[in-house]
Amino acid sequence: MTDTQLAHTNGSTTLDRNGSTADHIAPPGVRWNYAAAPETVKVTIEPRYGHYINGDWTKPNSTFTTENPATQKPLSEISNASAAQVDTAVKAARAALGPWSKLPAKERAKYIFRIARRIQERSRELAILETMDSGKPIKESRDVDIPLVAQHFFYHAGWADKLAYAFPGATPSPIGVCGQIIPWNFPLLMAAWKLAPALACGNTCVLKPAETTPLTALRLAEICHEVGLPKGVVNIITGDGRTGAAMASHPGFDKLAFTGSTEVGKKIALAAASRGTKLTLELGGKSPHIIFDDASIDQAVEGIIQGIYFNQGEVCCAGSRLFVQENILDQVVAKLKIRLASLRVGDPMDKNTDVGAVNSKAQLDQINRYIALGQSEGAQIHDVNPSTLPSSGYWCRPCFFTGVQPSHTIAREEIFGPVLSILSFRTPEEAISRANNTPYGLAAGIWTDKGSKIFEIARKLKAGVVWCNTYNKFDPSSPFGGFKESGFGREGGVQGLRAYVNLH
Ligand code: NAI
Ligand code: MG
Repeated sequence: MTDTQLAHTNGSTTLDRNGSTADHIAPPGVRWNYAAAPETVKVTIEPRYGHYINGDWTKPNSTFTTENPATQKPLSEISNASAAQVDTAVKAARAALGPWSKLPAKERAKYIFRIARRIQERSRELAILETMDSGKPIKESRDVDIPLVAQHFFYHAGWADKLAYAFPGATPSPIGVCGQIIPWNFPLLMAAWKLAPALACGNTCVLKPAETTPLTALRLAEICHEVGLPKGVVNIITGDGRTGAAMASHPGFDKLAFTGSTEVGKKIALAAASRGTKLTLELGGKSPHIIFDDASIDQAVEGIIQGIYFNQGEVCCAGSRLFVQENILDQVVAKLKIRLASLRVGDPMDKNTDVGAVNSKAQLDQINRYIALGQSEGAQIHDVNPSTLPSSGYWCRPCFFTGVQPSHTIAREEIFGPVLSILSFRTPEEAISRANNTPYGLAAGIWTDKGSKIFEIARKLKAGVVWCNTYNKFDPSSPFGGFKESGFGREGGVQGLRAYVNLH
């Protein structure tokens, strides 16, 4: 089996980012590594795509290129929806609203169920496409993203005819036409988070994927078509921030839902507030990950790795600020170095790859800017991963910083890359106050052996999600969302349904 076949390569020593001697854990002499195990199935990609509006495809117009960030090779030409096309999509969704919302709920459920089944049937194709368009490793798109996408549709199919039980004592009704704008880090999963609850509650949608990762959302339009979803119920339009802005300012939406940067979220909040449009926002984060000295250190180190290097750190809830109790700091740093050095960075289509390509040049530039800032502000970089980066594409070797002060930029601002800032603390009180000292409030992690400590600390952390002795675990029945500048409203679970109904 190629997956487990071992290949023999020479051990290498690399220089750190300053070009000086690296402190990485290079195994002495011979180094053993896995042979390449690339995904070989070919997926058909059309040379050009139009928008999916009112159950039909428009002719491609004013196109731009979506590329594979691991190779910089173009994948397809994607259309930029004009304000007039946004308007056509909104009108299609409005016309579909009456019949869709009046359909018996169990019939609505059947469509959502069929979408889920079709996603499962086409899961390999979807995973490959997601990896090609976004740069994330195939083992993540295959084992995390796409299964969760199917789960979200299954879960919400189950709710469609039980909404009365979700809101006892109240009568739920659909909000109406929803405008949904999503980012590039979990392209199809974010589409599922937006569409599945909206459809279950009887709403109709216009969804726009991010400009660097439109391909799986366009495939989802195909799936909606295949399962016979009535025309106009789901409209998928593509384009960049201008299309997004045209959606945000369109008066025909009853609700807007956005996941992305805090900066754009604020603009959308302004546009929605001026018209009284309902709104949910899921924005950035600088999530604290707290490790106490009574934690299982090896498990905690796995959690740290999962928390910040998963999906190249391009995760809104990434555990990007690590707080370690002072007496175990050296031990945690030493173990982290060894584990970090073992991560495989490279071809996202290889089933052994742990860290894939950064999504775009713009994102890589941002990450590199923060890495340089971390060094110039006086923190010590640990660039211990020995991977040789491919010559084309956008790559960042995962790394971490020690000697980070709370005032350092890398401890305060969202980097959205595989870069961890390590700080220390002495008492639980200090951990809580340092962890909460941020404009964000999306997620947090706690590692300790003591259940009572978990409850005490979790209660005091201002974070929408608190993971205990684990990190970055998702489930359709768990609400997800933030406080403060991380946004408002929840997605998933009963709380997520609330964002898609009016209650009488
Ligand atoms: P972004 O917020 O610009 O993009 C997200 C979505 O919003 C895309 O579909 C984009 O086309 C759309 N958009 C852009 N400008 C818009 C506007 N004026 N009105 C309406 N929609 C608009 O995020 P970007 O520039 O791709 O990434 C910048 C930073 O944002 C990242 O480095 C990261 O820190 C953060 N981010 C956070 C995400 C999260 O999951 N919370 C996801 C993506 C980015
Ligand atoms: Mg792309």
